[in-house]
Amino acid sequence: MVLDTQFLAATDEGIGQAAAILRAGGLVAMPTETVYGLAGDARNGTAVARIFEAKGRPRFNPLIVHVPDMAMARDMAEFDERAEAVARAFWPGALTLVLPVKASAGLSPLVTAGLPTVAIRMPAHPLAKALLRAFGGPVAAPSANPSGKVSPTTADHVRQGLGGKIEAILDGGACAVGLESTILGLDGSPALLRPGGIPVEELEAMLGAIAVGGPGALPNAPGQLPSHYAPDAPVRLGAVAREGAEIWVGFGPDCAGADLTLSAKGDLVEAAAALFQTLRDADALAGPEGRISFAPVPETGLGRAINDRLRRAAAPRG
Ligand code: TXA
Ligand code: MG
Repeated sequence: MVLDTQFLAATDEGIGQAAAILRAGGLVAMPTETVYGLAGDARNGTAVARIFEAKGRPRFNPLIVHVPDMAMARDMAEFDERAEAVARAFWPGALTLVLPVKASAGLSPLVTAGLPTVAIRMPAHPLAKALLRAFGGPVAAPSANPSGKVSPTTADHVRQGLGGKIEAILDGGACAVGLESTILGLDGSPALLRPGGIPVEELEAMLGAIAVGGPGALPNAPGQLPSHYAPDAPVRLGAVAREGAEIWVGFGPDCAGADLTLSAKGDLVEAAAALFQTLRDADALAGPEGRISFAPVPETGLGRAINDRLRRAAAPRG
């Protein structure tokens, strides 16, 4: 079935229409500060199943539950003192916490994929907050892109990937952070399940050393699969100069002659915000037979999340 996907404006009326679609079990792409999310009622099994169907995502992968406030967060999951402190410091924001799920949360089992934990996030984007408040319940939202493709940071990216498959797109312009949230497992000792918009160094300043992976890590999770965030053209990393006819994407001032740049001044925040748009632009410039290369990005702060996404974009396609 092909739907007539509506663009909803960032107005009270648009937010009201988006909330009504969620209440009716429909799907709305919602802007967040990280990337656009494909939102559905997390307690409605049919709505959640449609999220997987629209993305073409394997069904065993759990989704992030978005909440407007701590009261709803505590209804979903068990917060110990550590989780409370981290939430106070970093929410609303680009951090997802994996915590023991409460049975009384009433979440569709598809959301947690049968795990004893739930991934939960309180986004900071004013439109996401307004929609979550207007809807009044937990919202499941993976990134609003077809599974395996580049994540969307504008409403038009969502339309290109999911137009005709979802009821509406709430247009909030470009996403400020541009990378998915950092996922922190706090169901045991702290574990970094995905690097993202909050640098792990900031979390370690509060929690001490954080292990990468850990018992909560799901090797089969999308975004954790080796090939993900993939443009159509092959991608080469660590490129200090252009080779042949490839589209070379620079970072920092030493990349004169690059076709595109993540950040000419070498700023990691600017590079994160530009990453997914730049992957799309490089893909368009490369064309059907072309190749893309990226200059090295330092493995610190947001550079870790940028390199994580670039390694997946460059991984052999499977
Ligand atoms: O920034 C973001 O996090 C965006 C916006 C829309 O909020 N959402 C997002 O969702 O990136 P998604 O579905 O693309 O990524 C969710 C990740 C997956 O890798 C999944 O495996 C992990 O969260 N996840 C969800 N529940 C989990 C759980 N109980 N334990 C471990 N990982 C979990
Ligand atoms: Mg994703």
